[in-house]
Amino acid sequence: MLLDPDARGQAGSTAEAIGIENVSMSFQGRQGPVEALRGINLTIPQNRFISIVGRSGCGKSTLLRIISGLIPQSAGTIRVMGRSTQDYQKEKKFGFVFQEASLFPWKTARDNVRLPLDVIGIGTPAERAARADDLLRLTRLEGFADHYPAQLSGGMRQRVSIARALSYEPEILLMDEPFGALDEFTRREMHDELIRIWQTRPVTVVFVTHSLSEALYLSDAIVVMAPRPGRIKAVVPVAHPRLADPDMRHHPDVIAQTRDLERLIHEQ
Ligand SMILES: Nc1ncnc2c1ncn2[C@@H]1O[C@H](COP(=O)(O)OP(=O)(O)OP(=O)(O)O)[C@@H](O)[C@H]1O
Ligand SMILES: [Mg+2]
Repeated sequence: MLLDPDARGQAGSTAEAIGIENVSMSFQGRQGPVEALRGINLTIPQNRFISIVGRSGCGKSTLLRIISGLIPQSAGTIRVMGRSTQDYQKEKKFGFVFQEASLFPWKTARDNVRLPLDVIGIGTPAERAARADDLLRLTRLEGFADHYPAQLSGGMRQRVSIARALSYEPEILLMDEPFGALDEFTRREMHDELIRIWQTRPVTVVFVTHSLSEALYLSDAIVVMAPRPGRIKAVVPVAHPRLADPDMRHHPDVIAQTRDLERLIHEQ
């Protein structure tokens, strides 16, 4: 399924960021193989914001992990920026944000953010610290650089995770329910933050969520998956322009589209 390149959002590039062809994935479960994904076909153009929704167990995290090269698919091919995901992974251009902020508790916010740069060995130590401070500013955490994770709120920790994922300028940002643990208002702040970051420095974002309103608020298009076996049911372009106005959440079009998505997810 090819996402409509004219859907909305960033003008310009319709070049492919991620091409998924006939990808299937089976896990060895206790009662035999589990077909986590079957025949996934999806093309994601560069610099789009794509959400993946669907019931628990429909293979969303598995698909994200396969795209990132964390686990190999059982069948099919994945291209990332024209290369195999394994080749692409070597260039370390993926940013991955997990559901739980996975920060090192003994490192400060700044040192957590610069960690990937330290590991890859980009720039001098002073340049790495400066870059980390830039990213902490971008995620509105200036003033907290020397705080340890335990001294930060959940939303702040998640922003440190996002800053860290952005540290080495990924072309592709994979986010697995990054705001799942946040309260509704912090979540909304994070949405605006993420859109601002995305508009400042365009990247291709693949965003997994259980929240339809979140998916509608953030995305150019929504991939609806269904379980057993995990598969793509529909790719739905988001109809309204990206929401500068939070009241758009209550717009009749948005409510109608939420209802359509719910129907898609719940029908067998
Ligand atoms: N390492 C694994 N070993 C065995 N089975 C697995 C493994 N990882 C995932 N599965 C199975 O694959 C299916 C898809 O799992 P996945 O975690 O991708 O779902 P999900 O859509 O992310 O669900 P959720 O919304 O609950 O996070 C599930 O049936 C799960 O039990
Ligand atoms: Mg998951």
